Amino acid sequence: MTYFMGIDISTTSAKAIIIDDTGNVKAIGSTAQPISQPYPLWSEQNPSDWWDGIIKSIQAALKEANLSGDDIAGIGLTGQMHGLVMLDANGEVLRPSILWNDQRTQEQCDQMTETIGFERLIELTGNRALTGFTAPKILWVRDNEADIYAKCAHILLPKDYIRYQLTGDYATDLAGAAGTSLLNVADRQWSDEVLDALKVPHEWLPTVHEGSQKTGEISSEAASRTGLKVGTPVFGGGGDQAAGAVGMGCVSPNKIGVTVGTSGVVFAPLADYAYEPEGRLHAFCHAVAGQWHFMGVMLSAAGSLQWYRDTLAPNVSFDDLLAEAENVEVGSDGLYFLPYLTGERTPHPDPLARGAFIGLTTRHSRGHMTRAVLEGVAFGLKDSFTLIDAVGLPEKYDVRISGGGAKSPIWQQIIADIFAAPLVNVNTPEAGAFGAALLAATGTGSFASVQAACEATIQTGEVVQPSANVAAYQDLYAVYRDLYPSLQNIFSRL
Ligand code: XUL
Repeated sequence: MTYFMGIDISTTSAKAIIIDDTGNVKAIGSTAQPISQPYPLWSEQNPSDWWDGIIKSIQAALKEANLSGDDIAGIGLTGQMHGLVMLDANGEVLRPSILWNDQRTQEQCDQMTETIGFERLIELTGNRALTGFTAPKILWVRDNEADIYAKCAHILLPKDYIRYQLTGDYATDLAGAAGTSLLNVADRQWSDEVLDALKVPHEWLPTVHEGSQKTGEISSEAASRTGLKVGTPVFGGGGDQAAGAVGMGCVSPNKIGVTVGTSGVVFAPLADYAYEPEGRLHAFCHAVAGQWHFMGVMLSAAGSLQWYRDTLAPNVSFDDLLAEAENVEVGSDGLYFLPYLTGERTPHPDPLARGAFIGLTTRHSRGHMTRAVLEGVAFGLKDSFTLIDAVGLPEKYDVRISGGGAKSPIWQQIIADIFAAPLVNVNTPEAGAFGAALLAATGTGSFASVQAACEATIQTGEVVQPSANVAAYQDLYAVYRDLYPSLQNIFSRL
């Protein structure tokens, strides 16, 4: 039996998964990660916490699987995208990492758009300048922390800081690199035009690699800290959404992925580079060589339900809360929830957007509020699906679903009804880490292609069919679409 490891530096935990070459999950080690939000709009983590956490998780996974480092044939990396890690010339971390859900950089986004031009920026990078992306964060440090900027010698994404600790290499994958706003996404290499325009030194950037390409080997120091074997090959892997898409088998244009994690994502693989001219959808490189993808990202999906439970029903289990929502009519009796608790990205790139319950009356119970949260998040996902549909879905496609929130049958039914499409469950827990392990497995030559790796290891399960509620939800969605435009001005005044 051959074993592979996927490492996932997510916002909430540092995870290591071990799978065999039939796709059996042998072990998952997971270490929770603290997050700091010291000012409104800020969101940071310490790279040293990721490293300490992943050491524990790797050791725990090897122990649980009853394997040693010698048994691991290859390692793939995935993790939260867009975060900025700045290192000095000695590879020392200069400041806490500014994360994907940090919203402090609108001024720098405006500067980028003005310098490069709205259309040219989207054509080159596949995306608008967005507050969560890496490039405006670099400019924010330049504008606000000149002493730190002056010492910067290397820029890495969160999972690539772990790659650096594991192998000593400054390297990244193309799916992750596409989320920086510095990549020429069509050419799959850093964009000299963007780097020159923003005056970001080219030599700060890591080398870029396809998901199944080897980037380095486990160093002796990392081996002694983790229990991995010196010389074990480490592969590119992918940003969490692209690796997660691999883990769900979304590796061809007829497989659309929906992920209900902290963020909510609709992911559509593309055979050729394309971009949405207004940049309302992300256009990135896929973790599969020679493929790209469109993606819509809402910032608070399961994150909205988590906030709602923690804030308004802290002593109630998710199961009990969701059971109350099942007894409520479609549409929550006229109650809507806007899920913009941490601002929004798709389809409203607005860091100042805010969450809201709209339409409350004395007749509404907690069950109504819970159902409104589930429906509001599903409407938000539908917004991304609608944009992807407008740029062209293949004639026939599957919608595959994964992520913590997706385990809830009532939420799955609401999403199937609002999308008016069947949802196919896949058997992979931890799709991101699983996908990263598959990219490593392909890189070692155990599979001829990423597609072959997916076919050999991923099984589809229950299919949730849309119910009789589809038509009702179409009418309800029309109202939802009008809410943000009506409130946008109020949000910015708040
Ligand atoms: C993708 C995105 C999130 C983060 C955190 O664009 O911002 O998926 O990577 O999970």
